[in-house]
Amino acid sequence: MFIMDVDKYNSLVKDLKEILGDIWVVEEKAAIERYLCDETAPPVRPPPSTKVVVVKPGSTEEVAKVLKLANKYNVPVYPRGGGTGLVGGAIPTKPGIILSLERLVNICIDVDNMVAEVEAGVTLGKLIEEVEKANLMFPPHPGDEGATIGGLIACNAGGARAVRTGVMRNYVLGIEVVLPNGDILRLGCKTIKNNMGYNLAHLFIGSEGILGVITKAYLRLYPRWNYTATIVLPFNDRVSAFRTAKKILHSGLSPLAIEYFDRKVIEASAKHLGLTWPVSEGDAFLMLILAEALEDVIYLELEYIDKLARSEGSLEPVVAQREDEQKTLLKIRSEIYSALKDKTYDILDTTVPIGLIDDFIKGLINIEKKYDIWLPAYGHVGDGNIHVHVPKHGSSSETLDKVIDEIYDLAIRLGGTITGEHGIGFIRRKYVRKILGDEWINLMKSIKHIVDPNNILNPNKVIPD
Ligand code: LAC
Ligand code: ZN
Repeated sequence: MFIMDVDKYNSLVKDLKEILGDIWVVEEKAAIERYLCDETAPPVRPPPSTKVVVVKPGSTEEVAKVLKLANKYNVPVYPRGGGTGLVGGAIPTKPGIILSLERLVNICIDVDNMVAEVEAGVTLGKLIEEVEKANLMFPPHPGDEGATIGGLIACNAGGARAVRTGVMRNYVLGIEVVLPNGDILRLGCKTIKNNMGYNLAHLFIGSEGILGVITKAYLRLYPRWNYTATIVLPFNDRVSAFRTAKKILHSGLSPLAIEYFDRKVIEASAKHLGLTWPVSEGDAFLMLILAEALEDVIYLELEYIDKLARSEGSLEPVVAQREDEQKTLLKIRSEIYSALKDKTYDILDTTVPIGLIDDFIKGLINIEKKYDIWLPAYGHVGDGNIHVHVPKHGSSSETLDKVIDEIYDLAIRLGGTITGEHGIGFIRRKYVRKILGDEWINLMKSIKHIVDPNNILNPNKVIPD
């Protein structure tokens, strides 16, 4: 690889500096450190190559020039957003160029058309802030607010509030994407409907940075639902909570989110944030986020949910209507992973059809018993997407790998999948063949080869060898 050949490396860096200017080409070890990892649990995170140079283009055209250069020198390019991924997708596993989109931070809210025009480096937090200022709404909450739009789209992020209006893919009306050869494609426009041939935009959405570099997007916004409430329903046991989630999904109500967690994990998260979990009853919780245009509708829904949940064994619910209280509840829920990360061997992302969520939790309880291990499960029960946290203490990695295998087999037996939102990245490639055969792998490889014949963009990711 290029780093072996000092002359070639020096020449590449010189050319990069000519395109971007000296300060946007970073070689110092200390400054590069934070670009070498993501949020993947350390025991399963791939080791990065440290033989990398970080570049920070300031425009789509500069991104295109970097990619052209990478082809000329035949070096890998690792696109990078907020580095919040959980499957090693952004980690430079070979010597190469890390392409950070952090300088592409323009954002403009087109209120009339209810569209956000956003560059790739804008964070989720900034998008939410600007959208709220314009009195509109971006309904999903696809992850860590430090995640960036380019990464969220490239990884088709999901998150808590996907039950009513879907995941990232469902909000993308158009993207600008730079192909590995440096060509710039502009796909889609600000319309809700668009039927021009293959929907190529959707090939890049969720491609995890192996097919192109997304530099800009049109995101669909919604009118603001002025009235929101978060209700926490406590239960004495996990199965009752899961069964109730299913009943709510069939009830005709359409919450933004139906989340599940147990007392131990939510209290760990609250403690991690210096807060206290405000619900005293129960060991297993459902947390629903409601949003409506009319206040009365919220009250009717709260009453209906309370009644339905009580008939399934729920205890006294806690309702938050003040915005700050609701934000705190969501924050405590969102930080579970950070709170548990030090003790984590791996965090799974299994997803099963919504009719079988209670079968999934029952199967998981059996695996816990078989291996005498605590497997905290939490997450987006409203779309069947449950994160099982596999703790690293007390068992060998061989045993933990067996536990993971069994959890995957359970999800697959129920007609589900091993990843609902985190993607395949680097670390899930070895499990792909559990579900997908050679036909899928060969087609994926052919598409990759057409778009990226020199295999420079994020090699070693998504597609198994
Ligand atoms: C969550 C992340 C881990 O749902 O996906 O908390
Ligand atoms: Zn999640």
